[in-house]
Amino acid sequence: MSTELSARMKNVSVSPTTALFAKVDELKRQGKEIISLNVGEPDFPTPENIKDAGIRAIRENFTKYTTGNGIAPLREAVIEKLKKDNGVTYEMNEVAIMTGAKQALSAALMAVAGDGDEVIIPVPCYVSYPDMVRLSGGTPVLVNKNEDFSLDLEAIENAINEKTKAVIICSPDNPTGAVYSEESLRKLAELAIARDIFIISDEIYEKIIFGKNRHFSIASVPGMKERTILVNGFSKTYSMTGWRMGYVCGRKDVISSAIKVQSQTTTTPPSISQMASLEALTGPQDSVAEMVSEFEKRRDYVYKRLNEIPDVVCGDIQGAFYAFFDVRKYIGFIGSDGIMFSDDKDICSYLLEKYQVATMPGSAYFAPGFIRISFASSMDTLKMAIDRIEMGLKAHKC
Ligand SMILES: Cc1ncc(COP(=O)(O)O)c(C=O)c1O
Repeated sequence: MSTELSARMKNVSVSPTTALFAKVDELKRQGKEIISLNVGEPDFPTPENIKDAGIRAIRENFTKYTTGNGIAPLREAVIEKLKKDNGVTYEMNEVAIMTGAKQALSAALMAVAGDGDEVIIPVPCYVSYPDMVRLSGGTPVLVNKNEDFSLDLEAIENAINEKTKAVIICSPDNPTGAVYSEESLRKLAELAIARDIFIISDEIYEKIIFGKNRHFSIASVPGMKERTILVNGFSKTYSMTGWRMGYVCGRKDVISSAIKVQSQTTTTPPSISQMASLEALTGPQDSVAEMVSEFEKRRDYVYKRLNEIPDVVCGDIQGAFYAFFDVRKYIGFIGSDGIMFSDDKDICSYLLEKYQVATMPGSAYFAPGFIRISFASSMDTLKMAIDRIEMGLKAHKC
């Protein structure tokens, strides 16, 4: 008998983004005027037609449990979207609506990766992937991406062994903004088929993509639909983070296992949010284009300003709404508060405490020496924030 925590929980930490969110909230309550560039959600309101659909659902008493895999019209709309946008055709029992893409990812991992299994994660990566793998009982195996944040296929291949169950990829990527080329995804597909593993493809930033970059879904490669677990959602494209809606598509047995997880935890996704999401997929899409065009202007601004700061290097931002920039040259320098930066976390704490701008350290994404900022804030806010970052970094002593 014991009242100790489970061994599984001892290896899992609170998401660093959530932890920083709490710290920023505390500083704001103390009256500090913090600019938050740490948050990963669009700053636009949920479009009116989507909000109206949610309100209508409440008024029409569509407020009860639904089927565990989500309402049929929404699954049909998801199937239609995947056929039209991604060139993959799913059956109704190959799609499940989940309570956010995050739950979709965790349920998928629980379905395929148990005790003793390994899941390869190219890094830098979304903060939650490794702990999601640990929560499922599996072991995350981190492999570096190339310097330009494209996939290092050789490193992935070398990490595959008989325990490997899956590789998790995200394109457009959080935190780096990289969009993987069709060519590299086709090569990864060849590898997955040859070595008989799953690809978990997180496509949540699919629509937030800039210039000539194009999203390509690995599930559309012949022979890949069966071994791809495609995850997508509504949080980013439709600015619906609080509605908690996502979906997972893949082989029938994988999807029925993911549904088991949902049915034994949250039962169903929220009924009201499902009606709002149905409107999101089937209603006018103008708001998406407007949001992406605004993000693109901000991307251009942020990219230019960051690269003008001495010794800061920000690579090409092809999609999503993050700039992930290199501050390795600043490690070992002393800030204007007289304290030395021993790593990226110190630089972020310094920028927060002394210059009142909240950023995320790259080490949270397994890339020490980098900083992530979100450009999901107005141009005025971004200007003020980058002025502060520039002032803070320029004020260092060697
Ligand atoms: C790469 C990635 N996947 C999944 C999620 C979670 O999305 P959701 O709000 O649908 O759970 C996020 C949220 O920040 C993300 O950045």
